[in-house]
Amino acid sequence: MVDAQTPASVAETKEALAAASYLADESAALVSFLAQRLGKPILVEGPAGVGKTELAKALSRASGRELIRLQCYEGLDEAKALYEWNYRKQLLRIQAGGESGWEEVHGDIFSAEFLLERPLMQAIASPEPTMPIVVLTSNNSRELTEALKRRCLYLWLDYPELDREMEIVRLHAPELPEALARRMVEVVRMVRDLDLKKPPSIAESIDWARTLLLMGSDDIDRETFEQSMSIIVKHRTDIDLVAERVGVKLADSVRPQA
Ligand SMILES: Nc1ncnc2c1ncn2[C@@H]1O[C@H](COP(=O)(O)OP(=O)(O)OP(=O)(O)O)[C@@H](O)[C@H]1O
Ligand SMILES: [Mg+2]
Repeated sequence: MVDAQTPASVAETKEALAAASYLADESAALVSFLAQRLGKPILVEGPAGVGKTELAKALSRASGRELIRLQCYEGLDEAKALYEWNYRKQLLRIQAGGESGWEEVHGDIFSAEFLLERPLMQAIASPEPTMPIVVLTSNNSRELTEALKRRCLYLWLDYPELDREMEIVRLHAPELPEALARRMVEVVRMVRDLDLKKPPSIAESIDWARTLLLMGSDDIDRETFEQSMSIIVKHRTDIDLVAERVGVKLADSVRPQA
């Protein structure tokens, strides 16, 4: 549905997302634009912490739509996804019925007042008449069916290019000097290149940037790295590998001679 908030071009979509604090690359901007113009859902896949959920949040901010979230898990049923009846309230109404006959009570207890709306119903029954933007996110641990994929616009989000990651990090940690941000992102990329159980994502880069600021570090020497690497590396075996491969490449801190 094209309304005042619907962007007219990919460039406009990118700007609107940036104004909502999301730095989208070309493919993310394109898919976001098409989703709004074609009215199709977006399926976003990619490793943990690369901005899948944040894209949905930014789209809601940029388009002035309410964000309604449904967390999917094994055993999710329609009572949790759509709606369920508020049994306790229905029971109370029946007990407090007094003189009213069954017909009246029956009509009453199956009205909206006795309904507990869950996310899908909330979205469909929203008083806002605008078409929802639907974003499905999955960190590719789940095999999704062809039938689902066919109905969606597909977006693969990966770790960003160096410059974009720097921009994202500085957006979230604006006090971080540019040179330190660059150095930090370079080190993160070195760590990502190793064969780790859990490579650091953008989320870890942002946390590390904030940590470096709190530590008052102005460079990433070996000592700083060893002290703070648990922010970006979170598996025992990964820690050993990273210390051995990356830690040793960093210069020792230069200390004045005692
Ligand atoms: N392009 C971007 N612009 C601004 N911030 C970003 C961008 N990409 C990621 N981030 C930030 O990175 C962090 C992690 O993003 P998010 O929670 O969306 O990851 P995710 O892909 O949904 O991860 P998971 O698979 O674990 O759910 C958030 O703080 C988010 O704001
Ligand atoms: Mg997520």
